[in-house]
Amino acid sequence: MKILGIESTAHTFGAGMIDGTRILSNVWDMYSPKKGGIHPREAANHHVGVAGGVISQALVSKPDAIAYSCGPGIGPSLRIGMLIARYLGIHYKIPIIPVNHGVAHLEIGLHSTKAKDPIAVYVSGGNTQIIGMDNGWKIFGETLDIALGNALDKLARDLGIGHPGGPAIEELAKKGKFTEMPYTVKGMDLNYSGIMTHARRLLKTRSPEDVAYSFQEHAFAMLVEVSERALAHTEKDEILLVGGVVKNQRLKKMYKTMCKERGAKLSVVPDELAGDNGAMVAWGGKVLFDKGFQIKPEETNYFQRIRVDTDLAELFKP
Ligand code: ATP
Ligand code: FE2
Repeated sequence: MKILGIESTAHTFGAGMIDGTRILSNVWDMYSPKKGGIHPREAANHHVGVAGGVISQALVSKPDAIAYSCGPGIGPSLRIGMLIARYLGIHYKIPIIPVNHGVAHLEIGLHSTKAKDPIAVYVSGGNTQIIGMDNGWKIFGETLDIALGNALDKLARDLGIGHPGGPAIEELAKKGKFTEMPYTVKGMDLNYSGIMTHARRLLKTRSPEDVAYSFQEHAFAMLVEVSERALAHTEKDEILLVGGVVKNQRLKKMYKTMCKERGAKLSVVPDELAGDNGAMVAWGGKVLFDKGFQIKPEETNYFQRIRVDTDLAELFKP
């Protein structure tokens, strides 16, 4: 069965096609704001502009179903993906599968790494969550304020090194020295706004390299600590890293050390499937379709604020 997946929740418009368990194509185009954060209308305009080209490259043969990210995300961006999914569904007379974007990150992580029953760490621009499977996806811990990717993007903006910030901070950090920063972990949850404010203040007296390095060391250690606690609480012995931030080599190394010390297995989603992309949505769609979930094109809808434990079948009940 061939599924075309459409991703448009935030900055990236992507389309990817799978056939059974194989990825046939995965094409995306990312919007980078010239200054400031993502502007919803500009992001949506970007998606409108690139959608035709991205979809014609990704659509390598006639699909049997269309999957699209129905949330969470930015309203105007979500709307573009939903409408394209709807019209393609009508055109091809095929079913539609709405997919939870966060769950798509998790499912492509499982599929690409063959992880079985991990503690999953979903860390991206909008999310920082420690998740496990317990009769469906359950959130065990999360950031109580901003997401780690968002914090990296904001810090990079202060430094004037562009968007996305994560890769730029990673590069800077390679030449930095350590300086103490706030470290806030509360049981299974964590906070990033305190360390953010501190890092911004520190930029007046320390080099960008030192701030980048020390920010990474503290922020990543906090995440590793709560992940290790989740392993201990649940008695699971496997970590799965998913989301755009896990492309960071330093983050992977810190998890490698922790997992080695605990005798736990570490699985990391490959870089090309880590950030927002259409193939992960197609795969997320397949997982749902196999469970019997599909809708008609005219039933498509989107939701800005769903979470990985939201029951989509309930939301799309006619
Ligand atoms: P969500 O899944 O929450 O909707 P998103 O759509 O922003 O968020 P992704 O594309 O999965 O998600 O992740 C983008 C984030 O990943 C950005 O914040 C970006 O800075 C970060 N990122 C990308 N590469 C790296 C890297 N090498 N190191 C750290 N962060 C990175
Ligand atoms: Fe994402």
